[in-house]
Amino acid sequence: MIVVAITGASGPIIGIRLMEELLKGGEAVTGIASKGSLKIMEHEISCPISDSFPLSGILEQRGNVADLTNFREYDNKNFNASCASGTSAFESIVVAPCSMKSLSAIANGYADNLITRACDVALKERKRCIIVPRETPFNLIHLENMRKATLAGAVIAPPIPGFYTMPQTAADIVDFVVGKILNLLGKRHDLFKGWGE
Ligand SMILES: Cc1cc2nc3c(=O)[nH]c(=O)nc-3n(C[C@H](O)[C@H](O)[C@H](O)COP(=O)(O)O)c2cc1C
Repeated sequence: MIVVAITGASGPIIGIRLMEELLKGGEAVTGIASKGSLKIMEHEISCPISDSFPLSGILEQRGNVADLTNFREYDNKNFNASCASGTSAFESIVVAPCSMKSLSAIANGYADNLITRACDVALKERKRCIIVPRETPFNLIHLENMRKATLAGAVIAPPIPGFYTMPQTAADIVDFVVGKILNLLGKRHDLFKGWGE
């Protein structure tokens, strides 16, 4: 099972597309959205957002995944979710996009919600913790937090596109970023061809 968390930064479409690709590939996915992400999703993804299960609603409305039975969504305050514990068998967590506030919490072990707690668990249990930070430019605090998270075992994978795939649309750029995350997760995809393939 892979946990995909969306926090209050620009680019929630990255997390949504990642969930879609994982689900289409038959993976079980747990989704968590921070409160701060809701307004941004409403604006950037242009669909009405339900307060109780925002991610399930978005996936349903987009209709890109035929079967959502492998998808479970938890409230960011719900510490009863299995990924809040080191006993959970989740494989990896991806925070995409990751706000500078959530990055700070992850880097400093300030686990006061399910997303930051699941990252804390992933780091202590030596699971994959992939952080997709979205801000520009970065100040020294952001950079130091990325350094700290990296030293603790996280992978910082900023949504920086490669242009050698000749993207034509914003969706192509999003898919490039999502493909890079899937590579980090060790999952096959056909979002872009690797150099020389
Ligand atoms: C429209 C909007 C866009 C934002 N974009 C970003 C962003 O790209 N990066 C960031 O670090 N914070 C951004 N913020 C600020 C965060 O949402 C804010 O710090 C929030 O407390 C993050 O909390 P969360 O990480 O728990 O979602 C944005 C806020 C708003 C209202």
